[in-house]
This record gives sequence, C-alpha cells and structure tokens, in this order.
Amino acid sequence: MALAAGSSVGVASVVVLLLLVVANASSSSSHAGSDGGRVLSEGSTAASWRRSVAESPLPRNNSLVLAAARTYRSDPLANLTMYTGGWNISDQHYWASVAYTAVPLFFFAILWFVGFGIAMLIISCFCCFCRNKSDGYSPTSYVTSLTMLILLTCATIAGCLVLHVGTEFFHNSTINTVEYVVGQGNLTVDNLRNFAGSLAAAKNIGVDQIFLPADVQRKIDLVEEKLNSSANEFSARIVSNYEKFKDMMDKMQYYLRYLAAIMLGLALLGFVFSVLGLHFLVSLLVIAGWIVVTVTVMLAGGFILLHNVVGDTCVAMDEWVTHPQAHTALDDILPCVDMATAHESLHRSQEVTAQLVALVNNVIMNISNREFPPAIRPLYFNQSGPLMPVLCDPFNQDMSARQCGPGEVTFKTAAAEWKKFECAVSGPPGSEVCTTAGRVTPPAYNQMTAAASISMGLYEFGPFLMDLQDCSFVRETFESISLKNCPGLEAHSRFVYLGLLVVSGAIMLAVVFWMVHTRQRRWRARSKPV
Ligand SMILES: *[C@@H]1O[C@H](CO)[C@@H](O)[C@H](O)[C@H]1NC(C)=O
Ligand SMILES: *[C@@H]1O[C@H](CO)[C@@H](O)[C@H](O)[C@H]1NC(C)=O
Ligand SMILES: *[C@@H]1O[C@H](CO)[C@@H](O)[C@H](O)[C@H]1NC(C)=O
Ligand SMILES: *[C@@H]1O[C@H](CO)[C@@H](O)[C@H](O)[C@H]1NC(C)=O
Ligand SMILES: *[C@@H]1O[C@H](CO)[C@@H](O)[C@H](O)[C@H]1NC(C)=O
Ligand SMILES: *[C@@H]1O[C@H](CO)[C@@H](O)[C@H](O)[C@H]1NC(C)=O
Ligand SMILES: *[C@@H]1O[C@H](CO)[C@@H](O)[C@H](O)[C@H]1NC(C)=O
Repeated sequence: MALAAGSSVGVASVVVLLLLVVANASSSSSHAGSDGGRVLSEGSTAASWRRSVAESPLPRNNSLVLAAARTYRSDPLANLTMYTGGWNISDQHYWASVAYTAVPLFFFAILWFVGFGIAMLIISCFCCFCRNKSDGYSPTSYVTSLTMLILLTCATIAGCLVLHVGTEFFHNSTINTVEYVVGQGNLTVDNLRNFAGSLAAAKNIGVDQIFLPADVQRKIDLVEEKLNSSANEFSARIVSNYEKFKDMMDKMQYYLRYLAAIMLGLALLGFVFSVLGLHFLVSLLVIAGWIVVTVTVMLAGGFILLHNVVGDTCVAMDEWVTHPQAHTALDDILPCVDMATAHESLHRSQEVTAQLVALVNNVIMNISNREFPPAIRPLYFNQSGPLMPVLCDPFNQDMSARQCGPGEVTFKTAAAEWKKFECAVSGPPGSEVCTTAGRVTPPAYNQMTAAASISMGLYEFGPFLMDLQDCSFVRETFESISLKNCPGLEAHSRFVYLGLLVVSGAIMLAVVFWMVHTRQRRWRARSKPV
C-alpha cells in the first residue's frame, strides 16, 4: 500500500519533472547554441538564467505566489499554521501541506485496520463462549441485513465501474498530455537540428573562392557543436523519460484494474457465501476484505494527493502564463534566458544572414556585373549582357528590419531571377568560360542560390530562437495544457479517488453485514423447529 501511494506521488512528480525537463533542456540548448562558448550545465545556473527582472518595467519585488488560494493548506512542518508559499515544488513545506490533505484517509485506514482487527478478535473470543446460543435471531435484523447486503453489493459494482472508467480516462488523459509535451519537444529538437544544419552549411558556403570571414566561421563551429549536442541530449532525455512515464502509467492502470476486479469478486462472493450461510468461507472473505479495504483507503489517499498536485500545477501554469512579468516559483526552475542574452543569440543568426547576403552581393557587384579584360582570369569568364539584380538584405546596419530596394531579389525569388542570367559554358571545371550571353556560370549559380537559401533558413529561424529564449514556447505549451488537458486530468483523477472511496466504503460495510447476515441465517435455522 505504501508502494501504491508512493507510486502516485511518483506519477505526480514525473508529470511535473517531465514538463520541466522539456522546458529546461529546450531553453538551455538554445542558450548554449547562441552563446557558443558557455557549457551547458543543468539546474545549477538556472537562477542566473532567469529572465532579467531588471529589464522588465515592473519592480523587482513584483513576485507572484502561484495558485495561492488553492495551496492555502495546513502545513504540518510549521505547527499546522497555514502554508502561504503557493505552488513551489522546490519547497518541502509545499509537499508537506499537500501530503497533509491525504492524512485523514491514511489515519482512517490505520484506524480501520487496528479497530476492525480488535473487533474481530473480540467477536471470535466472545463466540467461543456463546457457541450454542440461538436467541439472537430477529426477523427484522435478518431482513435488514439482507437488504443492506444487496444495496452494498450494488454500490460496490457501481464503484468498480466508476473506478474502471476513471482509470481508463485518467490513463488516457495523462498519456495524451505527456505525448503533447513530447511532441513539442520533438518539434524543438527538429528545429534545433535544422538550425545547426543551416549554420553548418552556411559556414562552408563560398562563392567564387570568396568565403565567410574566419572569425564568423569559428563562431559558427562552436554554436553548431553546442546546438547539435544539446539537441541529441535533449532528444535522448525526452525518449527515455517518456518511456519511463508510460511504463509507470501502464503499471498503475494494470494494478487499479486488478484492484477493481478483486473488489468486485470479493463483493459478489461475499454476497453469495453469506446468503448461502457458508460460515467458514465468509470468515476468510472477511479477513481478505479487512486487508483490501485498508489498502484501498490508503490508495485513495494517494490519489487525493495526486489530484491536488495536478490541480495546483494546472492553476500555477495558468497563472504563470497570464503574468509574464511577475517573478514566480516556476521562474526558479525554468531557465528562461534574460532579454539581453536572447537578443545576443538572435543577433548572431542575423549577423550570419547579413554576412551571407553581403558575400553574395559582393560577387554580383564586383565580379558578375563588371567587365574585365580576359587577362584577369578568375574574375573574367566572358560575362556579358544585362546586369544581375542583387539579393535583398532583410536587415539594416543596426539589424532593424529593412524594406527591399527596387530591383533587389528576395530569398524566395532569387533562384528563379538569377536563372535568367546563367550562361552556357565550356572549358575545364573550375575555369569555365561563358559561350553565350550571361553573367553567371552554372557552378557559381548553384553556390549563389545555396547561399541565398541558407540565409533564408537562418532568417526564418530567428523567431523560433526568440520564442525559445524568452520562454514563449513554454508559455504556449503550458497554455495549451491548461486549456485542453487540465480539465480532463483533474476530473479523471477525482473519478479514480471517488471510485476508490465508494468501493472501499461499500466493502467496509459489506464485510460487517456478511458477518451479521451469516450469523442471523444460522440462528434462524436453529430457531426454526425441525
Ligand atoms: C514593492 O512594491 C510596492 C507595490 O507593490 C511598491 O510600493 C514598493 O515601492 C516596492 N518596493 C521596492 C523596493 O521596489
Ligand atoms: C512549534 O511549536 C513549538 C512549541 O509550541 C515551538 O517550540 C516550535 O519552535 C514551533 N515550531 C515551528 C516550526 O514554529
Ligand atoms: C519523438 O521523437 C522520437 C524519436 O525521435 C520518436 O520515437 C517519437 O515517436 C516522437 N514522438 C512524437 C510524439 O512525435
Ligand atoms: C549532429 O550529431 C550527430 C550525431 O552525433 C551527427 O551524426 C550529425 O552529423 C551532427 N550534425 C551536425 C549538423 O553537426
Ligand atoms: C520556493 O522554495 C524555495 C525553497 O524553499 C525557496 O528558496 C524559493 O524562494 C521559493 N520560491 C518562491 C518564488 O517563493
Ligand atoms: C566591391 O569590392 C570593394 C573592395 O573590395 C568593396 O569595398 C565593396 O563593398 C564591394 N562591393 C560590394 C557590393 O560588396
Ligand atoms: C563570349 O560571349 C559571347 C556572347 O556574349 C560569345 O559570342 C563569345 O563567343 C564568347 N567568347 C568565348 C571565348 O567563348
């Protein structure tokens, strides 16, 4: 039973942890990527990566207690004063105050175990001395106990149904939630990998022997390595956490199903045996029921705890999403990077984009669009005809958005536009010469379009990087979970514990009435003249 309660707590912490791991790794990878030099270290530097509150327009003391009303509970670690710290899974007072909500049920389970045990002892001793008494029979008790048995058996069946349906629903809603989070994680991993790939391709691009500056290439190397290793590690963590979690949920579902079946079997057998007056078998069932009820009540306590943690987390996520400026307990765990770092990382990708555009335009303006005497060999390749349009740079000098000038081609149109300026060539590879009018040889054309498509890739990853770094990505995920998944999670965990409570209550009473009814039946048989 301790194991069962422990596993429910485990489920709750895994849900929370998985969310945090996903958020943590996604932000840290992008951070490591953008920063290039800093080594990814989890958790310990979380505080320093917190969104810089100094930059936000609100004062530093603007801290928000998450789910304050919901988490206002007695705290056994502080002499049962009320806990006011809100949702904070780093705080042991939070866990103590949530666990305290399950204490009445645990207490009740122990009370039942001890109390019923003593009662059984007394009854069996008492019965040793009054073996042949037969004047206990009363028709009213007989009919009442029979009616109660029928009612309680029906209640147990209903409770088992609720428990079964609740378990299925709860299993599905947790798995759906976690799959959604994993899907979001996968999306991030894919984006990170693509981004690393774009950077790697950008590094090696060169147009007509002109390459990116060496320092930019070195920076790209570092960024790419970090991005790639972060993506790999993140992906491995997602997969292994997901599998562990799913395994645990499957096991929980399996045990709850098992328990529902045992309870149902117990109720039906108990009913049949006591109606048939099989005294010995009923005694065995009473002992079984005594133990199973204790386990079930404790399990219900575990589920109340789980239900409360899930509910608190849902409210906390919701409040965190709607108060982006406030400092909360979630910020201590989620390493959302401060605005300065976010801008710096975005700046790096913008810088590379702009450098690539400049590189291509340098070739167009200074080589393709100029006339050279045939003696200057690499620059002269018999280019002739109308001038090629340059590539539009999406950024100004200060990296603000720039409107394309007239006659410039965009990333999307560049390939088609430049194709018109391609010439037919002859000569050995590497030193081809145009034989028709044109401004660019096919190999140079391929390099230019490759450079343009890579700059476009980098340019389009900008918003993604920005999202990752200021936690918009996590906010979106949380928002969707609190909107779509939370109502189901809360309702279904409530279903499960209500089912457990109904079933254990019904069996508890049924155990008593099995004994009463069996005895009444025997007394009735004895009191009847043969
Ligand atoms: C803290 O916030 C309150 C308002 O919520 C404000 O009046 C007070 O000046 C702030 N204190 C500091 C040190 O920022
Ligand atoms: C709890 O109460 C006792 C005595 O009433 C006191 O000695 C102890 O310091 C209190 N503990 C806390 C955490 O307040
Ligand atoms: C996430 O990616 C892993 C491996 O890359 C894959 O096995 C899993 O099915 C993906 N999950 C989702 C929900 O897309
Ligand atoms: C990323 O790492 C994987 C495996 O470690 C490797 O196969 C892949 O080529 C790397 N990608 C880049 C862009 O470096
Ligand atoms: C959460 O709890 C930890 C540990 O008690 C504490 O250091 C931290 O300040 C708390 N966070 C908030 C926002 O209250
Ligand atoms: C052409 O080359 C000169 C000198 O190398 C350079 O200053 C200029 O910026 C280049 N033009 C373009 C459009 O890149
Ligand atoms: C150079 O290009 C012109 C067409 O613009 C062509 O007529 C001429 O034959 C070419 N010269 C060589 C050496 O290929």
